[in-house]
Amino acid sequence: MVDVILGLQWGDEGKGKIVDYFAPKYDVIARFQGGPNAGHTLYVNGVKVVLHQIPSGIFHDNTTNLIGNGVVLDAVTLKNECQKVASMGVDYKKNLYISERTHLILPTHRALDKASELAKGNDKIGSTLKGIGPAYMDKTGRNGLRVGDLMDKSFTSQYIKLRLKHQRLLDNYNFQEDISSWEDEFFEAIEELREFKIVNGEYFINEKIQQGKKVLAEGAQGSMLDVDFGTFPFVTSSNTISAGVCTGLGVAPQKIKEVFGVSKAYCTRVGSGPFPTELNDEMGELIRKTGSEFGATTGRPRRCGWIDLVALNFACMINGVTKIIMTKTDILDNIDELKVCNGYKINGQEKNYVPFQMNKVEIEPVYKSFDGWKTDITSIEKYDQLPGKMKEYVDYINEYLKVPVTYISNGPGRDQIVVAE
Ligand code: GDP
Ligand code: IMO
Ligand code: MG
Repeated sequence: MVDVILGLQWGDEGKGKIVDYFAPKYDVIARFQGGPNAGHTLYVNGVKVVLHQIPSGIFHDNTTNLIGNGVVLDAVTLKNECQKVASMGVDYKKNLYISERTHLILPTHRALDKASELAKGNDKIGSTLKGIGPAYMDKTGRNGLRVGDLMDKSFTSQYIKLRLKHQRLLDNYNFQEDISSWEDEFFEAIEELREFKIVNGEYFINEKIQQGKKVLAEGAQGSMLDVDFGTFPFVTSSNTISAGVCTGLGVAPQKIKEVFGVSKAYCTRVGSGPFPTELNDEMGELIRKTGSEFGATTGRPRRCGWIDLVALNFACMINGVTKIIMTKTDILDNIDELKVCNGYKINGQEKNYVPFQMNKVEIEPVYKSFDGWKTDITSIEKYDQLPGKMKEYVDYINEYLKVPVTYISNGPGRDQIVVAE
């Protein structure tokens, strides 16, 4: 069977840490969408590592890691990341597999991402500029190059043809960028990519499932960044929700069992777009500072706000979340009064659904207040030891979402997690 761990908000919920924590219970960890726009932070023996392309199971010796067909792959990022994990003693050549159907991010995709954002001006998405959108556009536009194409003699001529197409688009944008150094790096990196274990991902994973192996699909970004169900157009270019596991790995829906939804105890967003519970005040600043809320990929300050149960409820619905994992609860340890958004006031009327275009309507969040627990919870190991006020906060979220919060993460460390079952 396949279990899934994915983000329920706008990304950076702490998926990397959670996948690393669960990894010993699984045989295969597979990324099914997204690319190097992701930044998943892990602490391995106290050392901080940020993974962009490699699945977060790589630090466990007996875990197989798969980059699935639904991912878009930057060979240069992968190469650098492999060097990093190798320096920490990981034999990535043994445990890392890549689907031959995975699409490649080309240097011109990155240039196109930049050109597109510049052209949007004030309406820019706030993309990570890693070439994600243009690479997925070439997939759906049926132009893209895939990892399996590397084995084809015509790869370079296919590349040149596509590059020419991209150059015309860049000319249309009136955008100039010298990509020659990116190209040099790209061709070096794809030479190395050819040496990886490139497999037919769908047979690979289904054989594992048939053998009774346990598979964990690792989501990137978050449900509110899903290209269909997120706050479009301020979204990423892939299906970040559980349905993406089927198309991004080639597994049938019946194979999916547990869907673990990861949510912070509050909420953050990086990049542009609507964020009803955003705090543009001292409290927002305090959460950002306490939670070190700066992007793991771009270093940009993350926008911070209260937890939004209307959006979370929506995310639970579209993902079929079976269990919630609440992270960064310790960041709220010192706050006197906490707020939970349990409704949206739109045109004077209280609603409990996510509107078609969040950015086109005035949303006034409706809040319920809670007393803060004012206790350092970072070394607590058992649910019973958590402060009563914190349990009240979590119980309310449980009740509202009708999905149990089964794990409470109380620090960035591998072992800082409390089981609430
Ligand atoms: P991801 O993209 O979902 O994997 O999340 P990121 O790695 O981008 O951001 C989450 C940040 O929070 C990282 O710096 C983690 O080390 C950190 N983190 C994760 N869980 C916790 C937690 O429970 N408490 C604290 N204080 N930090 C956490
Ligand atoms: P992880 O996996 C947070 C955001 C960008 C931007 C929008 C589109 O670490 O949670 P893109 O580069 O995909 O074209 O950017 O999506 N974004 C993320 N925000 N965490 C991420 O990944 C993100 N990946 C993309 O900031 O607003
Ligand atoms: Mg991240």
